[in-house]
Amino acid sequence: MPDMGKKTIVIAGGTDGMGRAVALDRMARGDDVVVIGSSAEKGAAHPWRFVQADLSSVAEVRRVVRDIGDEFPSVNALLLTANRIERHRRETPEGLEATFALYYLSRYLLAHGLPVTDVIISVSAPGMRVGRIHWDDLRLTRRWSRVRAQLQAGRANDLLGVAFAEETGGRVPFVIYNPRFTATDGVLRAGGLVRLLARVAASPVVEVVAPLVEWIDDPPAVPFAAFDRNKPVDIGLRTFDPADARRLSEVSKRLSTGPGTAPSPR
Ligand SMILES: NC(=O)c1ccc[n+]([C@@H]2O[C@H](COP(=O)([O-])OP(=O)(O)OC[C@H]3O[C@@H](n4cnc5c(N)ncnc54)[C@H](OP(=O)(O)O)[C@@H]3O)[C@@H](O)[C@H]2O)c1
Repeated sequence: MPDMGKKTIVIAGGTDGMGRAVALDRMARGDDVVVIGSSAEKGAAHPWRFVQADLSSVAEVRRVVRDIGDEFPSVNALLLTANRIERHRRETPEGLEATFALYYLSRYLLAHGLPVTDVIISVSAPGMRVGRIHWDDLRLTRRWSRVRAQLQAGRANDLLGVAFAEETGGRVPFVIYNPRFTATDGVLRAGGLVRLLARVAASPVVEVVAPLVEWIDDPPAVPFAAFDRNKPVDIGLRTFDPADARRLSEVSKRLSTGPGTAPSPR
């Protein structure tokens, strides 16, 4: 039976796009919604509880985990939607490649750090077979492109779901969701071909986030699941390899807790 009671929901990347759509829907239902984003202006646009942070910084994510954990002894649902397409290779204050740090490592830290009880939902790109983890150059120092960085972080998100379920014994269901091409403001504001394509091919945000809104009350009854829109993704795919998942989890632990959290060059 779905639990329709009032919930506490944390949305990392909730000031815009799909995260914002879920935030507004759940606020209208009376939930307490905590939204994390980097823009103070977007954060002030709605009466949610706003936490300003640059989630590409490990130190900032740790601060957010501490502050939210102090204020809320438990969080029903955690929604992970923060991402940004970098124009150029950028390193974070801790020396990490920015896409990996924001799109993947912040999700690892939030999932493991916050006191979530019901469900964790990560919006990324499960089911895609392109891209890989560059184990010998996670920071993509040798060859960086925005596509390569996005694909690496996308595959890392696949592995996060696998490792989280294994390490926590499935205590909290972890769901990853591929929204496909979605007409968020960012996509509609993009220039040229993307905007043109969005007008004809992108799905409306409200339609795309409907499953996310529902999973908050009625999570999948399994430790780990992946969906490509409404189609289940085969978690036997190589992109969900358990050995790779364990390996990435070890690396992530080191990157987020090591001295100064600086990565090794390899
Ligand atoms: N839209 C699509 O067609 C599509 C397709 C496939 C997958 N996805 C995936 O779906 C997820 C959500 O996409 P979306 O289109 O809804 O994204 P979006 O509209 O671009 O929103 C991204 C959110 O991330 C936050 N953010 C970005 N950089 C941040 C930082 N350094 N620190 C804190 N917050 C930060 C933004 O807030 P601030 O601006 O306040 O920082 C914003 O709230 C992403 O993971 C994306 O890769 C999207």
